[in-house]
Amino acid sequence: MPSSGRPGASAVVTGGAGFIGSHVVDALLADGVSVVVVDDLSTGLADNVAGEAELQVLDLSRRAQLDRVIDAAKPSVIFHLGAQASVVVSVENPERDCDVNVHGTLNVLEAARRHGAAVVFTSTGGAMYGNDALRPTTEDSIPAPQSPYGASKWAAEAYVNTWRGSHRVEHSICRLGNVYGPRQNPHGEAGVVAIFSHLLWRGERPTLFGRGTPTRDYVHVDDVVHGLLAAVGSGGTFNVSTGVETPVSRVLEVLQDEAGTAIEPGLAPLRPGELERSCLSPERAHEALGWRAEIHLEQGLRQTYRALTATFAAAD
Ligand SMILES: NC(=O)c1ccc[n+]([C@@H]2O[C@H](COP(=O)([O-])OP(=O)(O)OC[C@H]3O[C@@H](n4cnc5c(N)ncnc54)[C@H](O)[C@@H]3O)[C@@H](O)[C@H]2O)c1
Repeated sequence: MPSSGRPGASAVVTGGAGFIGSHVVDALLADGVSVVVVDDLSTGLADNVAGEAELQVLDLSRRAQLDRVIDAAKPSVIFHLGAQASVVVSVENPERDCDVNVHGTLNVLEAARRHGAAVVFTSTGGAMYGNDALRPTTEDSIPAPQSPYGASKWAAEAYVNTWRGSHRVEHSICRLGNVYGPRQNPHGEAGVVAIFSHLLWRGERPTLFGRGTPTRDYVHVDDVVHGLLAAVGSGGTFNVSTGVETPVSRVLEVLQDEAGTAIEPGLAPLRPGELERSCLSPERAHEALGWRAEIHLEQGLRQTYRALTATFAAAD
């Protein structure tokens, strides 16, 4: 098992072709770790995976295929980010959400057990706690998910905790805030920073669901990667967040300013399963892992707009 905060010589990153996972891969490679990516490319892109990493295209819910890849890789740590990560899709197809997020996690834990590998599991902060939790919400708050996605992440967390106790490997759970940054997909229904950036760049009208008032805890992907690395082998549950509550209308305002636009947004009600307010306390991660988010939201949004629009222009 790797020591606390150190990934060891070899790592598997599930979901490593996705937005956050591909940044984890880059950070591991920069640290000299050998990396195998497991991803079915359902939302991820092969182009997101650095050439030095090995990409294995497979579905996490297929245990035999996953076992073969992990047995060959013999990782000291598995960063488990592969997931059905959309609230809206989970409402439309809760069975598939459960297959990937719960059964897929069980498959990862079983493969990790054979190699004594520590697992770092990315759970959700926003979809876990519900509307009635005190804010900033601490990890001790009782989960109250409002969507199948939140329920599947909570169930998967239970398996991670149980496997930690049964097999004495310090698996960690990171409950992420609303992550934004380069490589986020602008074509999904989530990932508001990427969606707004794409629309503004095209001169199109964005929609403010919940009429702009819903709040989130926006955290930059570079900060999240540092948090996930710090969590290796630490054996706890941590919010990976900023503790700052920001209305979505403010995100649009900063992006409009960076884009040099003043497009009047459309207004619409919140969609099923979406929260009114969310803000997560990062204090436990600070005390136990020495981690704190360092990128200020406005600076991170402006940098993200520039990085995303450079890729939109290149793809055009
Ligand atoms: N982005 C956020 O704000 C946020 C917030 C909380 C938690 N998370 C969690 O972080 C993780 C990464 O999210 P992301 O934003 O990078 O999303 P993403 O969709 O970009 O990444 C998920 C990756 O998992 C892959 N995948 C999906 N189903 C799979 C399957 N059955 N087998 C193998 N691979 C599969 C996808 O192809 C994709 O590359 C997810 O576990 C998500 O639930 C994200």
